Amino acid sequence: MEDFNEIVSKLKDLYSRTPKHFDGSILGSMTTWPHPIGVYAYQLFIHVNGNDPVVFPIVQELEKDLLATIGSLYGSRHGLFTSGGTESNILALFVARRVSRSKSNVVVAPSTVHASIDKACQLMGLRLIKIPVNPLSSVDPDVLEKHVREHNPFAVVVTAGTTESGVVDKVKEVSEVASKHDVYLHVDAAFGGLLIPFLYKHGIVDTDLFFYPGVSSISVDLHKNGRAPIPSSLLFFKDEAYVDKACFEMNYLPSGVNCGLLGTRPGASLVASWAVVKAIGLEGYEKQALAQQEIALHLFNELHSREYIEVFKPVLPIVVWRSRLYNYIDMIKKLFNEGISLYKSPSLQAARAVIMPHVTREHVDALLKALDKIHERSGFN
Ligand SMILES: Cc1ncc(COP(=O)(O)O)c(C=O)c1O
Repeated sequence: MEDFNEIVSKLKDLYSRTPKHFDGSILGSMTTWPHPIGVYAYQLFIHVNGNDPVVFPIVQELEKDLLATIGSLYGSRHGLFTSGGTESNILALFVARRVSRSKSNVVVAPSTVHASIDKACQLMGLRLIKIPVNPLSSVDPDVLEKHVREHNPFAVVVTAGTTESGVVDKVKEVSEVASKHDVYLHVDAAFGGLLIPFLYKHGIVDTDLFFYPGVSSISVDLHKNGRAPIPSSLLFFKDEAYVDKACFEMNYLPSGVNCGLLGTRPGASLVASWAVVKAIGLEGYEKQALAQQEIALHLFNELHSREYIEVFKPVLPIVVWRSRLYNYIDMIKKLFNEGISLYKSPSLQAARAVIMPHVTREHVDALLKALDKIHERSGFN
């Protein structure tokens, strides 16, 4: 057994070598530095099993309050706390299958859906039909309807803030197609859920995120733009009865039921999410969304002014660009060597920066400097 103090000093050393969001090196990930009240709450409630609301009644109380606060943005308070966008997407399709009157095992979605939809379909033996779409455009509702007619799906999935380019599918128009054909519609708003309602209000995006009559579920990650510690997400349903469909019998538990995919689950992240949402408030998320968008536009304008770059105008605060000199994978590697990590946008053969709440103008300016440097060496600048 190793000495406690030695383990602590090793941990400190490991911590010093681990990148932190506030140092400006993390510009591609959709994670962010959690709000301090969330860290405090997490530590305080580290012992709580989120799967046991009888022994830990706080779990149910805070989940209800959290769903009511965030759900007021979309017009539903029915749902459950999950571990992330992946669990929410898998559960949404699971519930869709359970409530569907159709015998079909087909899911229709634009090609821009997150990989967790492929994962969900693989896990449940579902057939996923992808509609080829330009990654910079939302799916055309008429084309989607054509696919619905042709493939007779039990569920349709669209995205409000796509992973690779931040595009927002037309939730209202797609919901009309879902209503007309009596198909379950899940809207994956893991990234956009805490941006779109505010940016829509300010006329910055033209699509709102709401439980229009044809929408059955909406997922929103709190560990992304919510600034809650990982793992934290919410899955909303249009109707209370759908929540029960995300639950399973588990007789040995005092409650007798287990909701969601995990068994024992981190109650600490639920308490922490509640605390963070209280501390920031919807008005705080609104300011944050506007600030993120402003920094994204600053990055876009700067990139646009560089002749060695081809950049796409951001819809949400995700900026995607290519170099005219390097292929995108080489460019990302070179920037990594300069201390900046970005993610790929393979569908556009481009690099992607996500302007999360921790990203400042200084971080973006350091990225621009690094980009100038790697292009200068090659004589392009
Ligand atoms: C649109 C979308 N949905 C789902 C996910 C998966 O979320 P998580 O990593 O929390 O499981 C992501 C992650 O980036 C995403 O961008």
